[in-house]
Amino acid sequence: MESFEKLPSHVSIIMDGNGRWAQRHSLPRFKGHYEGVESVRAVVECCCELGIPYLSLFAFSEENWNRPQDEVSRLMELFALSMKNELNNFIKNGVRFVVLGNRERFSENLNSAIDEMMRSTAAGSALTLVVFLSYSGRWDILQAARKLAVTHPDGNFGMEEISSALVTSRIPDPDLLIRTSGEMRISNYMLWQLSYTEIVVVDTLWPDFRKTSFLDALREYEKRDRRFGKVK
Ligand code: IPE
Ligand code: IPE
Ligand code: MG
Repeated sequence: MESFEKLPSHVSIIMDGNGRWAQRHSLPRFKGHYEGVESVRAVVECCCELGIPYLSLFAFSEENWNRPQDEVSRLMELFALSMKNELNNFIKNGVRFVVLGNRERFSENLNSAIDEMMRSTAAGSALTLVVFLSYSGRWDILQAARKLAVTHPDGNFGMEEISSALVTSRIPDPDLLIRTSGEMRISNYMLWQLSYTEIVVVDTLWPDFRKTSFLDALREYEKRDRRFGKVK
């Protein structure tokens, strides 16, 4: 494995371009999602090898519920299937699996599969893998505001309390955000948490994004000069 002078503690990825990948291979869109699971496997493996402690993946946005019913059902099936397939691997490799998002619209089956997966991997200490499902940044801020309205009705709270009320409270803010498929937007992802995250957009479509592409993005991060508004 290559060595890096500076590695991010938390890498987050907007996994985009599955549909276009499928189209390019004259396949139905869902095949792109299935192929994308292989990329998830490659990146998780890479994080374990390099000792990156947090990896988060944007897998399904709140807005994605508005896709054709057939694609949504296929995706839900794929989430359930992938969790089942990866469980033993995760336990063996010390991967703690966490799902964050608005779980109200998931089937009972999917919700219990998620709970089971989170319970059985809770002791994992090598990598925390966060999967954002039915998540949006604005939803996260809204649910935080609702909590704070109850716990601090006098309005006497600060940045720390807001961070703690977000669903990501136990996860550090991302150091590096990668978006595949060339789209230059955040698409309502972690709006609060990405304040000072380094962004790398690559043209590669998610199903083609494997180890080499991930290492390239880490090399790019290594070159970045993070100033946080200060002067050198
Ligand atoms: C990302 O790939 C996966 C999800 C958003 C669920 P897309 O399905 O958005 O693929 P494109 O952008 O249409 O190519
Ligand atoms: C963002 O991708 C959401 C996920 C990758 C889960 P989309 O494909 O839904 O985003 P837009 O519509 O291109 O902004
Ligand atoms: Mg897309």
